[in-house]
Amino acid sequence: MQGKILVVGSLNMDLVVNAPRHPQMGETILGGTFATFPGGKGANQAVAAARMGSAVTMIGRVGQDGFGSELRASAVKDGIDMQHVKVDEREATGIAFITVDAAGRNTIVVASGANLALTPRELSAAQQAFSNANVLVTQLESPLDTVSAAITLAVANNLRVVLNPAPAQTLSAEILSKVDYFIPNEREAMQVVGAETLDSAIEQLLGMGVRNLIITLGEKGVLIVTPAGRKEIPAYSVQAVDTVAAGDAFVGAFATGLAEGMSTEQAAQLGNAAAAISVTRHGAQPSLPMRKEVNEFFGGQK
Ligand code: RIB
Repeated sequence: MQGKILVVGSLNMDLVVNAPRHPQMGETILGGTFATFPGGKGANQAVAAARMGSAVTMIGRVGQDGFGSELRASAVKDGIDMQHVKVDEREATGIAFITVDAAGRNTIVVASGANLALTPRELSAAQQAFSNANVLVTQLESPLDTVSAAITLAVANNLRVVLNPAPAQTLSAEILSKVDYFIPNEREAMQVVGAETLDSAIEQLLGMGVRNLIITLGEKGVLIVTPAGRKEIPAYSVQAVDTVAAGDAFVGAFATGLAEGMSTEQAAQLGNAAAAISVTRHGAQPSLPMRKEVNEFFGGQK
């Protein structure tokens, strides 16, 4: 069964510098190569799902500029329905300044631009997109009232809701209780509830109504937590060159697995494989694998 996924989220052009290490505060260092790549957590997750074989529709905003046209054209090439990604006449397309060190670790600063002009009103105009999908995927690079409205509309239309709370901000029980699969990394899990430890964050999130908590642990894999217990799904061991969009690769592939009827564990394995392949390649969207590559990767693991 082909997954039908609706992504409400961000599109950014990534401006990436590779450097031997990250600079200290107030320090200037000489880096290496510079490159631009299509990115943004929303668009990355949309592309990850499309390359896994899902039919994907995106709702978002870009500016009336070259980056905006490039991002839209690139998503269309991946077969994503972009009719609900509108061009904002006032704001510039979102960009992300990224540094990647020799170990593939990154720091990211986003200038959101047009992403912040995505209003709840535009969701109502895209009602058809909600009735056609079976999974909603969203993140926090769009305004919180829009994300919240998207989740409410998704629930009303019987979609399963996947929320990747990145970048993290405090979230209410009203939002969390409507989410079917909540996918933070360790730091984000603690930040959304203001907890000092991961265990305390897990306890609070379950208490606030989260049904399936999938915590991404980087090279260690993911931890699935439900009210019934915990289970770790280990990562595949690879040589990382660039970890940008590894989390997005996981989320897009995981959502595809769910939409295809997989169990949470099977979907997490699909997500882990997509993330493992993505970190062996440079850039956000260029690093995201096709389903065929993931299947070959699984073959090589046996
Ligand atoms: O998750 C990676 C993404 O975060 C990058 O593509 C960048 O645009 C930021 O949104």
